[in-house]
Formats: sequence, C-alpha cells, structure tokens
Amino acid sequence: MIKYLIITTVPALFILASVIWLIVALVRRSRSRKVAGGLVVVEIAILVVLYFHWFAPKEFPRNYLNDAQQSSQTLAEAATAKGFYIGAAIGNPSMPSYANLVPKEYNSITPENATKWRQMLVDGKIGEYDFTQADAIVDYAVANGVRVRGHTLVWGKFSGRTYPKELDERIASAVDPAAELRQVMRDHITTVMTHFKGRIKVWDVVNEPMSMDGPYLDKHIYLNTLGKDYIAEAFQIAHEIDPSVQLFINEQFGNYTSEGVEVFFDLLKWLQEENVPIHGVGVQAHNIFKTHNLDEFRQFMNRVTELGLLFEVTEFDARIRLFDAAEDPYQAQADYITEYARICIENPNCIGFTFWGLSDAGTWFDYVPPFSSMLPNDPLLFDINLHAKPARAGIIEALESRR
Ligand code: XIL
Repeated sequence: MIKYLIITTVPALFILASVIWLIVALVRRSRSRKVAGGLVVVEIAILVVLYFHWFAPKEFPRNYLNDAQQSSQTLAEAATAKGFYIGAAIGNPSMPSYANLVPKEYNSITPENATKWRQMLVDGKIGEYDFTQADAIVDYAVANGVRVRGHTLVWGKFSGRTYPKELDERIASAVDPAAELRQVMRDHITTVMTHFKGRIKVWDVVNEPMSMDGPYLDKHIYLNTLGKDYIAEAFQIAHEIDPSVQLFINEQFGNYTSEGVEVFFDLLKWLQEENVPIHGVGVQAHNIFKTHNLDEFRQFMNRVTELGLLFEVTEFDARIRLFDAAEDPYQAQADYITEYARICIENPNCIGFTFWGLSDAGTWFDYVPPFSSMLPNDPLLFDINLHAKPARAGIIEALESRR
C-alpha cells in the first residue's frame, strides 16, 4: 500500500514541482525557464503516451462471439462430476446474472462483500448485526445446492472498510488491549459462524495476513496487539464453533517466488507445528498490473498441497488490457485463464477455482480507481451480455480430464 502511494505520489509531486519552477522562472524571466520548459514538455509527452497506453478507452475484437459454443455439459456439471468447485463472487444478489448463471454454470459462490465484518454491522457498531444482504446471497445458493465460501472472519487491513473503525478506538482505550481484542474477535467469529452454521461450509478465516509493502506479516491492529498468535487463535475459535467447517487462510501474491512467499510458508509451518486447525490455503489471484508466472504458480500450489493442505484459487480475475499486445486479446486472455485453472484442476488437492464476479458486467475493477478509468477491464469468464468467453470451454475440457 505504501509502495503504491509512493509510486503514484512521488511522480505527481515531481511534476507539480517542475510546473511551479516553470511558472516562477517565467515570471522572473530567469534563464532557467528553458530548462524548466523542456522538463515540462517531456513530462507532458510521457503523460500522453501513458494515457493512450493505460487509460484511453479501447475496444478489442470479440471474435469469440462467432464461435459456436458447443459442449454437452455446463461448467457446473463438469465441475460437480469431478468433485471440483467453479465459483463466482456475488455482489448484489438481485442482479439477474445471479439467477442466470447460478447454479447452471457455477457450483460455488462467495459473497463479495456481504460477509465481511464491517458490511454486516449496522452503522459500523460492533455487536449489532444485520444479515439481510448476506442471507439473501447465501440462501439462494444453498436452496440451489451451491456451495458457499464465507469471506472473511479476520482481516486487519483497511480500518472502517473491512473491519469497523470502532475497533481501533476500543483497543486504543482498553485497559488490557490484548484481552479486549481476543474477546471481540471471539464474539464476532462465534456470532457469524453460528448464524451461518450448516450453510457456509468453508470460511476464509484470516484474509491477507501478509504486508503489501515487504516480506513480513502485515503490521495492523491484530498483529500489533496479539502478535502472530492472532492467526492461530482465529482458527482455533472457528474450529471450536464448528469442527466440520473447512478453514482457509487467504492471500494475494503477484509473484509466487518473492521473499514474502517464504515468510508465508514459515507461517504455515508454524501453524501446523502448533497443531492449529487449518485446512487450506486460498490464493486470490487478482491479475492487476501483470499476469503471473504460471510455472511458479504451479510450484507454489504443489508446495502447499505437499504440506497436506487443500488449495483453492479464491478470487481470480485478469484484466483484458494485460493482453492488449496480442492479436486477439480475448483469446489470449482465455488461454491464460484456462492454463491457470488447468494447473489447479490437475492437482487433486486443489478443490476450487473462483472468479471474482459472475461476469464482466460486475467486476470491482470498474468502480475501483485507477482501473475504473482504464476501460475495458473485462477480467472474467462471461462477458457483459453473459456470453460465455472462450475460457469456459477450455475449463470444461480441463475438468473432463481431472483425475
Ligand atoms: C473487494 C470487492 O470486490 C469490492 O467490491 C470492495 O469495494 C473492496 O473489496 N481482496 C479481497 C476481496 O480479499 O475481499 C476484495 O474485494 C478484493 C481484494
């Protein structure tokens, strides 16, 4: 996060400084105005190139619309036949694509936001829950025999958005901050898991324990107050409440061989040595600024499953503009998605592959800056009109050969 801020703010400040320099030099008729002017011209040229490369709206040919979509079974049927889950995140349960594509194409769903702590609270008040939105999403899925992944019980990033701001104040003013946080965490996990008992069979217990800034655990309210024990305790509490639920740790890696990966494996090994009831690892697999090295992804996944843990891809998306150098970007995107999914499908302990949205009409990139100004994003499996994109056929094929 800090890295991202630095990357965006430093150039912005630099440009601002050079514009101010130019103005001052012009006013004073100083000789440096030529240098300042030259600098500003170069900056403008760079910005224009970047605009056309990254921001100007583009259109790519949709050749896939000409292909006859032939397959004897739907994606969900192919997945269910092999005990595999193909999932989608559900934002608003009343959007027509939910009923159109689930349960026909997806046999698993994840509430995109509705089961996050802050989102379930009335006005962000700790302990005051409103489950209306979450129940609407979950009940539709359960009624249709679709698995639900719960997302997420403990997430220390983004105060006021993923967890209630009130928590910061409470812990800061507590006589015994560690005891207070333990109690609040226990109460929350208990309330939520009890509410969804029997309906949500797998939970992301801890989301994004790693820092985005370096190879260490994220230094947020949970780590600062409880040390890494917060992770172990969250899993223990969840397991006490319902030992039949699969408990996952969920993380985003843009690079599967970074130093942070080793810190993550140290964490997994520590959890196992401490006999913490952890059953699986989820990787989000958002392809935001670049695609991932798939050999490294395979090795990462195999290392996880060799530890005896289950594996899932939990939040996949890949922006179409990452493929704009290809002759047919939608086909290149499909090849990439298919390969990513195939690697997971080939490992018997990889049990699911979830897209972060039902279709390109409902992707978070379209409302989260800067991607909201980099259209199209089109990062998912069905297009804005719910036409299957070519990766669907590729994934069905991969599923058919799953052992
Ligand atoms: C995103 C949602 O898609 C957005 O609607 C919301 O505004 C922000 O959160 N990693 C996660 C997900 O674990 O919960 C995030 O979802 C995407 C990144």
